Amino acid sequence: MKKNDIYQVKIESFDVNGYGVCHIDNKVVFVLYALEGEEVKIKITNIHKKYVFSEAIEIIKKSPHRLLSLEEINNLSGECDLAHIDYETELKIKELKIKNTLKLDGYKFNNIIRADKTEHYRNKIMVPFQSIGSGEDYEVISGFYEKKSHKIVDTDDDILSTDIANQILHIIKRYLALFNVPIYDETTFKGIFREVMIRNTSNNDYMVVLIVTCNYNFDRLVEILTSEIKEIKSIYLNINDNKNNVLLTDDFHLIYGDKFIKENILDLDFEVAPKAFMQVNHEQCEKLYKEALRMANINNKMNIIDAYCGMGSITLNLAKNAKFVYGIEIVPDAIINANKNKEINNISNAEFICGKCEDEIVKLVNKEKIDLIVFDPPRKGCDPKFLDTVIKMNIPKIVYISCNIATAKRDIDILINNGYVLNEVTPVDLFPKTSNCETVLLLTRK
Ligand SMILES: C[S@@+](CC[C@H](N)C(=O)[O-])C[C@H]1O[C@@H](n2cnc3c(N)ncnc32)[C@H](O)[C@@H]1O
Repeated sequence: MKKNDIYQVKIESFDVNGYGVCHIDNKVVFVLYALEGEEVKIKITNIHKKYVFSEAIEIIKKSPHRLLSLEEINNLSGECDLAHIDYETELKIKELKIKNTLKLDGYKFNNIIRADKTEHYRNKIMVPFQSIGSGEDYEVISGFYEKKSHKIVDTDDDILSTDIANQILHIIKRYLALFNVPIYDETTFKGIFREVMIRNTSNNDYMVVLIVTCNYNFDRLVEILTSEIKEIKSIYLNINDNKNNVLLTDDFHLIYGDKFIKENILDLDFEVAPKAFMQVNHEQCEKLYKEALRMANINNKMNIIDAYCGMGSITLNLAKNAKFVYGIEIVPDAIINANKNKEINNISNAEFICGKCEDEIVKLVNKEKIDLIVFDPPRKGCDPKFLDTVIKMNIPKIVYISCNIATAKRDIDILINNGYVLNEVTPVDLFPKTSNCETVLLLTRK
């Protein structure tokens, strides 16, 4: 067997990332975009010692669970790696991924919390721009990067973005082409316009951030955008002349409207700054927080730590029923945001601490008896020093919210080896059409 060889195979099962699985010459072969039960022609893409990667190039016998043809999949961003599968099967794959990664017994596994809306749910998108051709053929395109390349696939109708976000992108693209605004070229580092970030709230207020290499007059674009899209409440320029992949710098200039847009999460108001972390799916975020709060089972005698707290959306929801909550977060702007959110909601029993969780938690060791810790770390999971302190503090209850079950598994094994038991696990589908999934896990001290 060698790269680019073609085979006709029957797909035996799914793997936890949604790949079809079959065997050739006793080797496990993972097949991108093939479904269990299908007969497909595949092309070998990558050969490892024990397993092989391939992609489906022709569907000979189609599964009833297939939603999209191979041609239709090509028009979607690589992020939508499960868009070709019906939602029931997608949910089964996600549950399987969580169970198989945890590889543990003796805990309660709850059904995945499903989404009502499986398309157009994202409240934040970052979209790169490129120019192609010259003279009469000059064109500005925007969309997503083609798989394993830095070529952009032009799209005006992204399946995960809202219709309004798609309209905003279309207007910007038209404007840039019409007024010949130089588009940034990441190979020569020349040009001005790099990317657009669009965020929105559940009541349809939009913030647009134009990411450019230097200050530029966009008065006319602002006029067009705000007259055509009434939902736009805020427009920023972000000046980014870095030659690396950093998407946003701290150099923001408000060029229209409000400094923040306002989101309501479980009856609390939050001011959202351009750089603030907010879960990308509002409806599912509320379900995720509700599930974490159910597992936390708080009362007004409890002192709590909310580690990796972002703009305080979990912290302040915990504070509603707790004695006191400490929120810890590394990004200074998020802490400014969190303190403002505390004030807006008239909450006095919370304190936000700026710094690394692994450093700041140590300072709380002798301060107070902590009854519960909630942590919602980034994809890389928790720092070992942080987990070590949690264990030493003998905190009776942990609610771990994870967007990456592989790193959660690593961290949970450490906690289990140091006196904790895993009681309950609930996956929450925040990212329909993709193989990503949030999970809430409850651990208690033996
Ligand atoms: C997945 S987000 C969770 C935010 C928040 N809990 C929410 O639901 O909106 C992770 C957060 O951890 C922060 N962070 C990353 N590394 C950190 C560290 N070592 N110490 C403290 N915060 C950190 C990030 O800035 C980000 O706000």
